[in-house]
Amino acid sequence: MALPWALAVLSLLPLLDAQSPACPNFSVPITNASLDQISGKWFYIGSAFRSPEYKKEASHVHAAFFYFTPNHTEDTILSREYTTVRGQCLYNSSSVKVHRENGTLSKSAKGREHFAHLLLPKDPKTFMFAAFPEDKQNMGLSFYANKPEVTPEQMEQFYDYLTCMGMDKSEVMYTDEKKNLCLPLEKQHDEERKKEDERSETGPALD
Ligand SMILES: *[C@@H]1O[C@H](CO)[C@@H](O)[C@H](O)[C@H]1NC(C)=O
Ligand SMILES: *[C@@H]1O[C@H](CO)[C@@H](O)[C@H](O)[C@H]1NC(C)=O
Ligand SMILES: *[C@@H]1O[C@H](CO)[C@@H](O)[C@H](O)[C@H]1NC(C)=O
Ligand SMILES: *[C@@H]1O[C@H](CO)[C@@H](O)[C@H](O)[C@H]1NC(C)=O
Ligand SMILES: *[C@@H]1O[C@H](CO)[C@@H](O)[C@H](O)[C@H]1NC(C)=O
Repeated sequence: MALPWALAVLSLLPLLDAQSPACPNFSVPITNASLDQISGKWFYIGSAFRSPEYKKEASHVHAAFFYFTPNHTEDTILSREYTTVRGQCLYNSSSVKVHRENGTLSKSAKGREHFAHLLLPKDPKTFMFAAFPEDKQNMGLSFYANKPEVTPEQMEQFYDYLTCMGMDKSEVMYTDEKKNLCLPLEKQHDEERKKEDERSETGPALD
């Protein structure tokens, strides 16, 4: 009698495995090392959102990249964001709060605080944000990489996390680097910053 039972269990195992790969712990505390890892320039690759508000916002974004500059003592991150929305480049810089204990970042917008769980997959050239991971109606996952094009392995990592949360690949909205209209503005900002640096370098020498 053990055999039919064993067969049934064994035939279910691969199915269960395919449907729900192990989810990461969404509340891993943020350390100085994790802040160092997410410091720098990142491209927004894609996301899946069930919260109608986030879904609508994401659907308008054709491409986006940003610079994260963490401050380890203040527990904040300066975020400089270049977003292409409806054929237009929008630039914004804002301060992101770091909540080390529960592994979240938050940003205030539209009169309230928006939280995201920081997920650091094995590949340090990518990271993800999860929103409301426990809430089937409102959950979301977004994916970032240090280049606008990702490898199939990196994409697979994102799909694994997506599947373990109970979402489907068909829910993903992707960005398109070809629609990125923000490169001229980034270049202009780079040049302005370079001039600033030169001015502050030559400044004291004149005294
Ligand atoms: C996730 O990690 C946190 C902090 O290390 C720990 O307190 C919590 O119990 C973990 N949760 C799970 C589901 O393992
Ligand atoms: C972090 O913030 C503190 C307080 O505002 C400031 O004094 C310090 O210079 C900042 N550190 C960096 C690396 O920007
Ligand atoms: C993180 O870095 C800051 C600034 O270098 C330092 O003051 C703080 O003690 C570090 N925190 C930990 C937990 O190492
Ligand atoms: C820019 O950032 C501020 C502060 O986070 C926010 O209130 C504002 O809505 C943002 N503007 C755009 C165009 O994203
Ligand atoms: C994380 O911690 C912050 C600060 O303690 C708190 O305001 C926030 O609600 C927490 N977020 C989550 C998702 O647990």
